[in-house]
Amino acid sequence: MRAWQVCELGDPADVLELVDVPEPVPGPDQLRVRVDAVALNFPDVLLCQGKYQERPPLPFTPGQEVCATVLDGPRAGERVLGSTPAPHGGLAEQALMPVTSAFPVPDGMPDAKAASLFITYQTGHVGLHRRAQLREGETLLVHAGAGGVGSAAIQLGRAAGARVIATAGGPEKVQVCRDLGADVVVDYLAEDFVAVVKDATEGRGADVVYDSVGGDVFDKSRRCVAFEGRIVVVGFAGGRIADAPTNHALVKNYSVVGLHWGLYRTYEPEIFARTHEALVRLWEAGAIDPLVGAELPLEDAPAALARLASRGTVGKVVLTP
Ligand SMILES: NC(=O)c1ccc[n+]([C@@H]2O[C@H](COP(=O)([O-])OP(=O)(O)OC[C@H]3O[C@@H](n4cnc5c(N)ncnc54)[C@H](OP(=O)(O)O)[C@@H]3O)[C@@H](O)[C@H]2O)c1
Repeated sequence: MRAWQVCELGDPADVLELVDVPEPVPGPDQLRVRVDAVALNFPDVLLCQGKYQERPPLPFTPGQEVCATVLDGPRAGERVLGSTPAPHGGLAEQALMPVTSAFPVPDGMPDAKAASLFITYQTGHVGLHRRAQLREGETLLVHAGAGGVGSAAIQLGRAAGARVIATAGGPEKVQVCRDLGADVVVDYLAEDFVAVVKDATEGRGADVVYDSVGGDVFDKSRRCVAFEGRIVVVGFAGGRIADAPTNHALVKNYSVVGLHWGLYRTYEPEIFARTHEALVRLWEAGAIDPLVGAELPLEDAPAALARLASRGTVGKVVLTP
């Protein structure tokens, strides 16, 4: 079968190789699946570069979330969505899924949307509800709102009854955030989002900031977070990890909240099934709907990951073998 492999670390466009490999053999707690659609994530880029918190031994196949069909055993034929960790990731015709990370696809959901309902939406749901305790009527500021993580957070924030302010880089992405339902949108490459947030909240600031960019964006977010606000540290797509001065948190009474969704595998694995059920209910109610910005063939993986790494994508990019 065909699979993209990383044999040495580096930028995806330089190091990914499309190779013919034997079909993967599942262990006792794994399912062998046919990949119907694989959704890309920024961490796939970091995995190829060796900059992710997990560093699988080489060679490995990246691609961490799929919609797939189970090939063997009692669940054969079942349509599932969930995670395909390296080394047998989803950028391939077949992959391996942990039994505990393969969830039923809701009826009527297309493959590309189903592949996109896992990482970013689970992260958003856990991040906004469990970690940030977002309440109805609060103001949520979502950075990089047109991206994968951001587009999910805008929809989940709206579904929670929050007022959503989004930032995005450039007019096309601003429009994407508007279409997703954000109440106020800032092109943060052209305009100071701190002033816009203060203006939109009568000086109070945002109750929850959902920050997947970090660096200067985190630094500026501290200036427009509300009294008793929560800044959720989701990622560092901007490339710099910011410092969080504790004296500033003290004088403004806000919290900096870390979010590592995958870590619940160790501490509370049952959260994934619970969150999946909540997401399916929201999808069935029409409250969320994954934004698939591009659907491409599997062969396009290196170019698609390069675009994702350089701010060239909106929503989710999904590949089909
Ligand atoms: N904490 C967790 O558990 C968790 C889970 C999943 C993902 N993440 C993290 O969340 C972040 C977003 O992931 P994603 O897959 O959804 O990616 P994405 O948001 O679709 O793409 C990254 C976006 O970040 C913005 N950005 C700002 N500065 C950038 C720069 N210098 N280079 C590249 N992008 C930049 C861009 O949007 P603009 O052009 O609008 O600025 C870009 O589109 C990543 O850091 C990822 O590691 C964390």
